[in-house]
Amino acid sequence: MRWLCVLLLCCPSLAPAQKNPLAKDPAAIENGRQTFLGACSACHGASAQGGTGPSLVSGRMNRLNDGQALKAIKNGLPGTDMPPFNIPDDKVWEMVTFLRSLSRPAIALPPAGSAEAGAAVFFGKGGCSNCHRIAGKGGAIGPDLTNAGANMTVLQMREAIFEPNARVAPGFEAVTVTTAAGAVIDGVARNENNYSLQVLDKAGKLHLLWRRDVKQFKRRDGSLMPAGYDQKLSKVEATDLLAFLSRQSIRPYEAGEDR
Ligand code: HEC
Ligand code: HEC
Repeated sequence: MRWLCVLLLCCPSLAPAQKNPLAKDPAAIENGRQTFLGACSACHGASAQGGTGPSLVSGRMNRLNDGQALKAIKNGLPGTDMPPFNIPDDKVWEMVTFLRSLSRPAIALPPAGSAEAGAAVFFGKGGCSNCHRIAGKGGAIGPDLTNAGANMTVLQMREAIFEPNARVAPGFEAVTVTTAAGAVIDGVARNENNYSLQVLDKAGKLHLLWRRDVKQFKRRDGSLMPAGYDQKLSKVEATDLLAFLSRQSIRPYEAGEDR
């Protein structure tokens, strides 16, 4: 065995391209995210969106194979600000899985957790279905999540749930409308035009209003979605919820769609 290693060290071209052994480990995305937050986010941003270091969402990561990514992280990039890291291989591989997940739909590698327990959180304790619909079940004031696993990455889901005010889904901006008659309606505006608008209120009731009957129309900063789910849900419930949402897709995911 030893001579083989020596041979491979001398002649790297003989070595098969190194593959991430944790690429399909459902727990690796979250474990990798945790390591990344501690060691890398100061330069690359908490969502790897970039900071003083480059963005590691798609572009640059896509050009690196697994082996090159491992090497860059362990050895750093001499002559640049990217330092070497003395982190065990399995921790680095988890980060590579996390970084790759940033440019893949959640359904490509749903997080570890019980989707069944996650459904119970969605339709029960979490109250998510008061505002969101899945396959026709639930409310409509928030986006329909029937295809969430195909539309969003795991990190986008996590941020949407735990930091709802960071980014508001287009078409779901919160508004407060005061009518000429003095009624105040909190909700989201739909189908606005010069003459009329529709406001879906928090209780799910649709109000059809003429502009001329609207005394004040105010867009509010932030989301209608309540903040504080990191307090309301335990870690296990959060993971189960993500495991459930990641599997929501209209079409089954084809393994070959993955690079
Ligand atoms: C002190 C700032 C800093 C920290 C901390 C840092 N990086 Fe970087 N990283 C950089 C910079 C700057 C570059 C781009 C270097 C260049 O090409 O100019 C980079 C590049 C990279 C690249 C691309 C490598 C390539 O060959 O294109 C990867 C992958 C990467 N970093 C991962 C990480 C990971 C994972 C961590 C945490 C373990 C981390 N970085 C921590 C600054 C940092
Ligand atoms: C009071 C209503 C309400 C509740 C309760 C609620 N949401 Fe939302 N949610 C919204 C609204 C409105 C938006 C769109 C604005 C935004 O992006 O923050 C949204 C956005 C989202 C998005 C982003 C969708 C996209 O297309 O970008 C996800 C994912 C989500 N919610 C999941 C959940 C989950 C999971 C729960 C339960 C833990 C939940 N929501 C509870 C109202 C709600």
